[in-house]
Amino acid sequence: MHYFKYKNSELYAEDVPVSKIVEKAGTPLYIYSHKTFLQHLNAYKNAFNGYNHTICFALKANSNSAILRLLAKNGSGADVVSGGELFLALKAGIPAKKIVYAGVGKTDDEIAYALKSRILMFNVESADELKAINRVAARLGVNAPIALRVNPDIDPKTHPYISTGLKESKFGIPIEDALEHYRFAKKLSNIEILGIHKHIGSQITKIRPFVDALKKVLVLADNLQRSGINIKHLDVGGGLGIDYNNDSPPNPEDLSKAILPLLKKYNFNLIIIEPGRSIAGNAGILVTKALYLKHHPKKEFVIVDAGMNDLIRPSLYNSFHNIVPVRKNSRKKVNVDIVGPICESGDFLGKNRKINRVMQGELLAVMSAGAYGFTMSSTYNSRPRPAEVLVKGNKFFIIREREEYSDLDRRIKMPEFLK
Ligand code: LLP
Repeated sequence: MHYFKYKNSELYAEDVPVSKIVEKAGTPLYIYSHKTFLQHLNAYKNAFNGYNHTICFALKANSNSAILRLLAKNGSGADVVSGGELFLALKAGIPAKKIVYAGVGKTDDEIAYALKSRILMFNVESADELKAINRVAARLGVNAPIALRVNPDIDPKTHPYISTGLKESKFGIPIEDALEHYRFAKKLSNIEILGIHKHIGSQITKIRPFVDALKKVLVLADNLQRSGINIKHLDVGGGLGIDYNNDSPPNPEDLSKAILPLLKKYNFNLIIIEPGRSIAGNAGILVTKALYLKHHPKKEFVIVDAGMNDLIRPSLYNSFHNIVPVRKNSRKKVNVDIVGPICESGDFLGKNRKINRVMQGELLAVMSAGAYGFTMSSTYNSRPRPAEVLVKGNKFFIIREREEYSDLDRRIKMPEFLK
């Protein structure tokens, strides 16, 4: 569900015509819907209502500070994977006690920053990392709250690049080694064991992998209990898919209905959920302008002003994003590739799309671009990053200015001999 709908053939973001926003903010442009974000966050809140829970929004999906503030004001916590994300989460007003910190490569500086900020817990991904956290905590004279991220070896049946819970994955600790790692953690002077964490992948469109993975984790919880290690927090990760192309993924309620009953005989005092895509994905679109039309003997191209530097998902994962005209028309349907201006053959937003013929200068909307869109953008080909706009009802707000050419060499220092 989202609030990007047509009214009289015009695409609206909530109550504002997309074309009107573009007049002010230009293209390429990310547009987000306030109401959609709230709706998705509330769906999680309602689904887990019966259990003490914290929803830790995964910042990697979207870390615009205005979006984070909006989520913070409505009770969201954060799942962070870097010092930068921790900084943004705290700055947006997300309480430290609602922040969990995952990632396989935390540095000493990042660990110290998180300890000083008093986050809820580290989701630890290796024995070496446990040692590092223990060492930094000892230096600071504090105890470090941790969960171990276990890898349950479950296939989430999604794209291999976004599967994280398989044996061959770099993430987490193999579940068969977890008990031993917990025992090791228990011996460390400045480590406080709080929880278990798992996250098996992203854009998961079936409930089954979540249940299978959780069952394995609960067997581990039983074994830990028997070994005198008490687990207070259960972090089930994120991963719920969204509708990109007439997919019908489960919703947060389906998820909670499948997993909460499994927890009845356990005494966890908190369940943590780390959704990213299912909160942000359908809450944003990328608007782009058709620059040129090009006919090759075997292909027709629409060349637009947004490229893989603005939205890399199609190029990187061959992901499908629906692409629709901002103003509907009744021209003949044609088969086209919608491609960006970047000098790479892999720079496309959509291939073999049957759409009403597009005219030069017209606007297209790339749907479901609110998650892993702007956060994965770059300035490749020295293209300044796009602007971002938040729509609330009949108002819209520029929440990130478009970068300028001068941003491209802002941090450059010219050696004296080259001046
Ligand atoms: N928790 C952890 C530990 C994660 O690694 C991730 C995502 C999440 C939560 C949030 O997962 P979500 O609810 O968004 O599925 N760039 C890729 C997605 C990479 C996801 C990485 N981890 C894409 O554009 O599809």
